Amino acid sequence: MQAFDVAHSRTWFFLSCVFRSNVNNKYSHCSSGFGIELPNPRESKKQSGYLNIFNDLGADWEAIVDERDTQKEVDFIQDMILRKGLTLDLCCGTGRHAVILRKKAWNIIGMDLSRNLLKIAKLRMKEAEVSFQLVRADMRYFPFKNKVFCAIMNMFTSFGYLPSLSEDVKSLLEVYRTLKNGGSFLLDVANRDHVIKNFQEKAWAEFKPFYLIENRVLDLKKSKLISQWAFIKKDNGKRRLIQHILRLYTFSQIEMLFKEAGLIVKEVYGGYENQEFNLDASRMIVHAQRIK
Ligand SMILES: C[S@@+](CC[C@H](N)C(=O)[O-])C[C@H]1O[C@@H](n2cnc3c(N)ncnc32)[C@H](O)[C@@H]1O
Repeated sequence: MQAFDVAHSRTWFFLSCVFRSNVNNKYSHCSSGFGIELPNPRESKKQSGYLNIFNDLGADWEAIVDERDTQKEVDFIQDMILRKGLTLDLCCGTGRHAVILRKKAWNIIGMDLSRNLLKIAKLRMKEAEVSFQLVRADMRYFPFKNKVFCAIMNMFTSFGYLPSLSEDVKSLLEVYRTLKNGGSFLLDVANRDHVIKNFQEKAWAEFKPFYLIENRVLDLKKSKLISQWAFIKKDNGKRRLIQHILRLYTFSQIEMLFKEAGLIVKEVYGGYENQEFNLDASRMIVHAQRIK
């Protein structure tokens, strides 16, 4: 009993150091199973209408990311950011990076808007016999205090889905606010120029439980990639259609937005093996720092 009290009070001490006080008081551990849930009080009706397609995909999204070389991505993260304090996996999804990093004793918090993906992250955490905070919150409003993180990472194109550019900026301002001086921000998105150079209207891929057929439209004026995904289940042939719209940024636009938010770009890579960022690189991985 005493041991439980000590562990419990340690947890609450940790939470009160990291989370904004109104979050601590109002939203305690919730019954849906992951750590903390933040129904955002400031979220307007218009914003709450924002559709997070990844939540609907749930286990199907897990099947897609499970085929990625997550270990290679984690090795890259470890080369880029120092394990010297608390790290936020912003838009952690199934927690595939955070779980491995926690196994390596990183002090990490996973945050995502998707209930379904956070449930998967919680299961993966248990399977790996590790434990860390999972928080359900919107990237436009972090529930954390100022300057709590030594590093924040946003992996595998989780930036650019918000309804407007100003909302993307809002999330960058939250990154700035919650990073310590000198803290690192790692943003991993698709390389817009590579997408344009290699643009294909149609593509298909096979995953364990389904085939994925993709129809794409490139809106160059708005710099948006509009994708329609058709999932066809292998076992029963059932189809499911999902559409998503991704805002694509050039490197110089990102550099400018970062600067406006107070983040200074240190380096950019074209892939998880430190590839050069050029037209042949499929990724744009930007490492920035909060200077003051
Ligand atoms: C492309 S997935 C990447 C997930 C994870 N980083 C990975 O590499 O597997 C994008 C993630 O962003 C999350 N997301 C989308 N909109 C969000 C928002 N407004 N706030 C927080 N997370 C959001 C989705 O739920 C999803 O987990």
